[in-house]
Amino acid sequence: MAAAHPLAFPAPPGRPARLVVLVSGSGTNLQALIDAVADSAYGAEIVAVGADRSGIAGLERAERAGLATFVHRVKDFADRADWDAALTASVAAYQPDLVVTAGFMKILGDRFIAAFAGRIVNTHPALLPAFPGAHGVTDALAYGVKVTGCTVHLVDAGVDTGPIIAQGVVPITDADHADGGEALHERIKTVERQLLVDVVGRLAREGHRIEDRKVWIPA
Ligand code: GRF
Repeated sequence: MAAAHPLAFPAPPGRPARLVVLVSGSGTNLQALIDAVADSAYGAEIVAVGADRSGIAGLERAERAGLATFVHRVKDFADRADWDAALTASVAAYQPDLVVTAGFMKILGDRFIAAFAGRIVNTHPALLPAFPGAHGVTDALAYGVKVTGCTVHLVDAGVDTGPIIAQGVVPITDADHADGGEALHERIKTVERQLLVDVVGRLAREGHRIEDRKVWIPA
């Protein structure tokens, strides 16, 4: 069952919103956020970058930008609950206003979701509620849909089931079926990076409220 969401996230008054970004891979969405926060008018700062694995380009991007980083690998903990507790504590130590999962390929635990409910923003490379899970790009391709895209949404206890904030559409071409979806994913990521930057900036500056799963950001 999906966790209940608070009905609103108020933007922090008079200061940039503090972001913790979680990554698992190349970190191009993280890079888009790093580039965006360089403009003080954006309204947010990245206070730390966390990962579930070491040796990834996403962490290198964070280090190049001079950001604090931490890594918690599931296999280093006795069980998933311990990993959840460690991740929650590390993120909480940075007192984030918003947590952004930008290509973070682990399902967050109950403790984490309870700690940051209504303030965790995820980006998914498909048009939810279609094609949730780790294979959104190839599942859309295999199904034969003609358009796919990306969804930026709040995270709840389900897998990619939380309230949708924004979506971007990407057409699928016949050629996409020839290369296993690589080019399609790159086109999705081009739209996704811009969408994520737009949404996170708006949340940081304006906050949000939720009515019946619909997320409203004040204009
Ligand atoms: C994104 O498409 C994200 O939605 C998916 O993995 C990709 C991450 O890309 N879950 P990057 O690490 O930000 O380059």
